[in-house]
Amino acid sequence: MTETDFIPSAYSKTLENGKVTWESPSNIALVKYWGKKENQIPANPSISFTLNNCKTITELSYRTKVSDTDFSFEVYLDGEKKDDFKPKIETFLKRIHVYLPFLKNYHFKIETTNTFPHSSGIASSASGMSALALCFMSTEKQLNPEMTTNYFNQKASFLARLGSGSACRSLEGDIIVWGQTDAISGSSDLYGTKYPYQVHENFKEYQDTILLVDKGEKQVSSTVGHNLMHAHPYAENRFKQAHENLEKLKPILESGDLNKFIALMESEALTLHAMMMTSMPYFILMKPNTLEIINKIWSFRESTGLHIGFTLDAGANVHVLYPKKEAKVILDFIKNELVAYCQNEQYICDQIGFGANQL
Ligand code: DP6
Repeated sequence: MTETDFIPSAYSKTLENGKVTWESPSNIALVKYWGKKENQIPANPSISFTLNNCKTITELSYRTKVSDTDFSFEVYLDGEKKDDFKPKIETFLKRIHVYLPFLKNYHFKIETTNTFPHSSGIASSASGMSALALCFMSTEKQLNPEMTTNYFNQKASFLARLGSGSACRSLEGDIIVWGQTDAISGSSDLYGTKYPYQVHENFKEYQDTILLVDKGEKQVSSTVGHNLMHAHPYAENRFKQAHENLEKLKPILESGDLNKFIALMESEALTLHAMMMTSMPYFILMKPNTLEIINKIWSFRESTGLHIGFTLDAGANVHVLYPKKEAKVILDFIKNELVAYCQNEQYICDQIGFGANQL
């Protein structure tokens, strides 16, 4: 597939107005996407667990309009008009217009809500952009009902990527790869694909408890962080390492070797933050409590032999990952020892999930 395969030919149907609704989850990367080329093409491949409970629900209402020279839309979050979301969505619409030529023919009302607390520091761009991309694709499917499911899914992921890179990994589950790599057959820079190899029982219902260490605005956005990889002294090695880590992950996922899984995942998280600390300008997104939590996890793991591990996104929050069969003891530990380091003791219990649903 190439970009041009997503430019549609003339539609077979016309539509006056209508409404579509999708819910789409967030995801947590094991091998991280950090650094991109033109048009949201990733500098390296990544792989993620799709989450189950942290979701965005988006309802898109559309009606035809007379003039087709501009985009016309309004955005609501939890029933409140959100004009400050408009520039980001306008940029998204401009990027995807060539692939969805009907966008200027309608006025859109976008009503969105998240299942996780707003500004919790949890990336809502992955769930939000994937839900919106799916709503647009459902609209296009009404204009072109012959569209196959495979094309629908690929194009929805492709469009979500143009909104936010990691969003292209949220549409399906339970393990998704994005970025071309020889390690994974079928992988693409253009959209996410399902991890195609065998996965051990140990990873079924894998748990992710998200510790909300800092809910404030990040000092440095992901977009700025990605761009700093362009002149980064370690970029080339880092990109190479991501390919190698995907190759190393295959036997780990197949055999269910949790110790090796944790080592790879934690090394990826710390490498991501090391890239931030060695950018120019440099920055630190971890907070003192992020490190307190990491050290507590390490000593608990050392003393119990349980398979608790962590990963980090571009922020201070800690994702604590562990297998379902050890969930009871580990969740008790989290509640007794780690939650105290969270802002207002807030945390979210999630687990690996299977992607978006039309409502
Ligand atoms: C650290 O997908 O938020 O979470 O493409 O600029 O929207 P944009 O960036 P974004 O970056 C996510 C980076 C990450 C790692 C990951 O999810 O792979």
